[in-house]
Amino acid sequence: MWQNAIEDAVAKTRNNIKRFGDLFPHVSQQGIYELNPNTDWTNGFWSGLLWLCYEYTGEPQFKEAADRTVAGMRRRMDVKEVLAHHDIGFLYSLSAKAAWILTGDEGTRELTIQAADKLMERWREQGQYLQAWGPVGDEQEGGRIIIDCLMNLPLLYWAAELTGDERYRHAAIQQADKSRRYLVRGDDSSYHTFFFNQETGEPIGGATHQGFTNGSTWTRGQAWGIYGFALSYRYTRDPLYLDTSKRLARFFIDHLPEDLVAYWDFNAPQQPGTPRDSSASAIAAAGLLELLLHLPADDSDRHELEQAVIRSLASLVERYSTMDDPDAEGLLNHGSYHVRGNLSLDDYMIWGDYFYLEALLRLERGIPGYWYERAAGDHE
Ligand code: GLY
Repeated sequence: MWQNAIEDAVAKTRNNIKRFGDLFPHVSQQGIYELNPNTDWTNGFWSGLLWLCYEYTGEPQFKEAADRTVAGMRRRMDVKEVLAHHDIGFLYSLSAKAAWILTGDEGTRELTIQAADKLMERWREQGQYLQAWGPVGDEQEGGRIIIDCLMNLPLLYWAAELTGDERYRHAAIQQADKSRRYLVRGDDSSYHTFFFNQETGEPIGGATHQGFTNGSTWTRGQAWGIYGFALSYRYTRDPLYLDTSKRLARFFIDHLPEDLVAYWDFNAPQQPGTPRDSSASAIAAAGLLELLLHLPADDSDRHELEQAVIRSLASLVERYSTMDDPDAEGLLNHGSYHVRGNLSLDDYMIWGDYFYLEALLRLERGIPGYWYERAAGDHE
């Protein structure tokens, strides 16, 4: 089953190179991807999909298309407005850093370090955190951290390793610690975002942006946390991060509906028509596979987590994938971008497609995506 699902995803991505040209897919409306000229936070996922397909097939057409996305990311580095958020990590890890990992091209290494520097411009020294959104010091947004940012930290850990400059690592660790302390709650659920006083750094409180209520658990945020803390563990070996990833994972799994694919928020009333977010489950699957690489063989939760990831990925393939529709643009049906904002419910999300293929390739081929350089044993 995994092999067929991978082949289907690769064939669709091949078709999409022709469909999309030099534009980037974001989310769909009624099955048609909205395209943009590399101006959104999601553009790295298309690049990452192309690199995954190249790594799996070795076909030059995937590399040529991926190289074009990296050239676009190089041009984007000079356009201030389209990098004014923390998602520089998503954008450049899966494009320029992927290129560096797969090709060793020095220019892409430099570009990735430039991206890490750009992310560091959002470091707030006073409060010791990375500001997620808005202009740095913005009155509304200046004090906000968000759980998604954990996935942007690998860019900083990686830059520290490559350059020997500890500033990047310090920022990443402070951000991970703050996220652990303030975004993760005592029952292992999570806030989407948390505010601090910009002047004093004092905590103010949790709030949501895309979840059901301020105190609810937005499923995609929980998934970003599972994967993000597992990656912070990989780079630091701090056991608290591994434990946090596991706690978030257990909460995620324990609150899934019968078909093991998440609704958009764990606290949203579940009734006919409640939107799913298949992309949250795809992220969680890839994140669980990363977590499992680090859990000791005799960990008491290991068996349950292994079963959960296989069964939920199987559900994605069998019930949510577009395998029965060869002309579909997307790989995964029933993603939700922003239910509160009424934006793209029950559609394709390019990050859902990326993490779906990453999870399948992790399972089938040991290809772990581009969050870190490959270590012996991670990659066959
Ligand atoms: N990082 C934004 C989102 O997950 O929608």
